Amino acid sequence: MSVNIAIDGPAGAGKSTIAKMVAKKLGYVYVDTGAMYRAMAYYFLTNQIDSTDREAIEKAVETVDVTIQYENGQQVVLLNGENVNDKIRNEEVGNMASATSVYPNVRKKLVALQQKLAQSTDVIMDGRDIGSVVLPNADVKFYLTASSSVRAQRRFAELQEKGVACDLDQIEKDIIDRDERDMNREVSPLTICEDAVLVDSSYMTIDEVVAELIRIVEEKT
Ligand code: C5P
Repeated sequence: MSVNIAIDGPAGAGKSTIAKMVAKKLGYVYVDTGAMYRAMAYYFLTNQIDSTDREAIEKAVETVDVTIQYENGQQVVLLNGENVNDKIRNEEVGNMASATSVYPNVRKKLVALQQKLAQSTDVIMDGRDIGSVVLPNADVKFYLTASSSVRAQRRFAELQEKGVACDLDQIEKDIIDRDERDMNREVSPLTICEDAVLVDSSYMTIDEVVAELIRIVEEKT
């Protein structure tokens, strides 16, 4: 049986950075489920489908193809066969992903893909509903969080480093809005699973968080 590790938590908590590092150290595959919702959102944006147009979204989901492949250990998301990794990492796509991940058929399609990936491989998978819906029997579940102001500052620094013009207050507002939507949607809201280990990274360095997670995984597997 493959080992499955779930990491859930709000936007900007550092899940992907941490999960990637833990995966590398343990020799597991890192599965970024947010990237799948982002790829789908990118499709809606480029096809001028409004996030409130449920009918158009449900119709599009039936035909759009999202697949995952790994190149040099890195996850590549293919949208109808096209590598969209470089197109989905901006705030517009992130906000659209949050707005459209509320639709049950969007989730159904991507959850099936995620479960298939975890079946035969040791994975560390991050998202919002991994411990609760995608991998309810995960060997270890983490809930990784940080305060909204710390998360906004981290994202601000990241965007500035990339030379993207941005506004700290707007980023914090977007983060709070996204948390609100992710935690209060009807289908698979972001929750802290009873059996999850809660890690608040507000005052921890990346290396400290990675070391803590590895310690817990080694203890539990
Ligand atoms: O983690 P990331 O910021 O890339 O996720 C983008 C959006 O996709 C989230 O705000 C959330 O609404 C949605 N998502 C989700 N379930 C997941 C992963 C992401 O609903 N497992």
